[in-house]
Amino acid sequence: MQYRSRPAQAVIDLNALRDNYRLARNLTPNGQVLAVIKADAYGHGAVQVARALDKLAPAFAVACIEEALQLREAGVRQPILLLEGPFCVDDLYLAAEHQFWLMLENPAQIEMTLNTLLPQPLTIWLKIDTGMHRLGLSAEQAHRWYPKLQSCAHIADNIILTSHFACADELNNDATAKQIAQFEQLQTRYAGAASLANSAAILGWPAAAKEWNRAGIMLYGASPFMQPHPQADQLKPVMTLQSRVISVRQVKQGDKVGYGASWLAKRDSLIATVAMGYADGYPRHTPSDTVVMVNGQPAKLAGRVSMDMLGVDVTDVDSIKIGDPVVLWGSELKVTDIAAAAQTISYEVLTGISARVPRIYIGC
Ligand SMILES: Cc1ncc(COP(=O)(O)O)c(C=O)c1O
Repeated sequence: MQYRSRPAQAVIDLNALRDNYRLARNLTPNGQVLAVIKADAYGHGAVQVARALDKLAPAFAVACIEEALQLREAGVRQPILLLEGPFCVDDLYLAAEHQFWLMLENPAQIEMTLNTLLPQPLTIWLKIDTGMHRLGLSAEQAHRWYPKLQSCAHIADNIILTSHFACADELNNDATAKQIAQFEQLQTRYAGAASLANSAAILGWPAAAKEWNRAGIMLYGASPFMQPHPQADQLKPVMTLQSRVISVRQVKQGDKVGYGASWLAKRDSLIATVAMGYADGYPRHTPSDTVVMVNGQPAKLAGRVSMDMLGVDVTDVDSIKIGDPVVLWGSELKVTDIAAAAQTISYEVLTGISARVPRIYIGC
């Protein structure tokens, strides 16, 4: 057992994760839900998340082969989709050996795949650019390459047509409906399974549900939307980022707190210093006055977040002492709100929790 005394930790509730997965499945009853566990399952631990979803998720998706190999080495047996496809020929051999599914999205990748003889057939997801203009083939390119892939001996018959939304988190933006229409136009030419929806679409765009739906952020209990939403509000936060008070001091009206002396005491105040900083992944740009729960009571960040610590104005919190528990986000404090205060998104904040923060798993 590794020695630990620093109290900063991320508690990961695997029951909440499974409940969020079931919500995704219930919202797309005619299809299957692939669990997106790239970037170490958005900071939650890919191996532990894959194991927790073992009996539920028929397949997983990651960004690259390094992430997929880590899962195979840990004994994960489900198909694993590489969302950016192969980067080189060796990726193709490894994909065939380990039964990774490949997203193919540009002609160079497709040519490399067609020209590499492989011992086992590969399952291919063919990505179409329906308007995001990041990855994917145009409709014309799809018409050119689809038949070649279909007749290739080392490519499995069931090619899955797929695309990705640029604005599905904006429920009033008609870009998503346009992307769906463009995709469905292409589907009239190519029979077979398809995949469009990410979390925002699973929750808010039922017309996007297809045979495969790709749930990422919602699995971790964070809403992709900025506003309240009846389905998204059922999500359960999976990560609680917590720590403890390590020092308490009285400051006088007019005193300043922290680096740059940016926080000014408007009255005599009590400041608690907490073992949590930007080197743990708590965003440095989170402004003073952002809520932090101390002893189960709301208090406010005071001064700049430093590398390993942050200050909280606990003047109005009852009976503060060293060792008191602090929650930075979790069920009482949404990570989406903290991310918004720091002018970022929950995805960045969750994936930014650093390796030095131990992940403690509950509900195993
Ligand atoms: C191709 C693709 N599908 C699905 C997802 C999951 O998205 P979300 O986390 O918004 O559900 C991502 C994430 O970036 C992605 O790149």
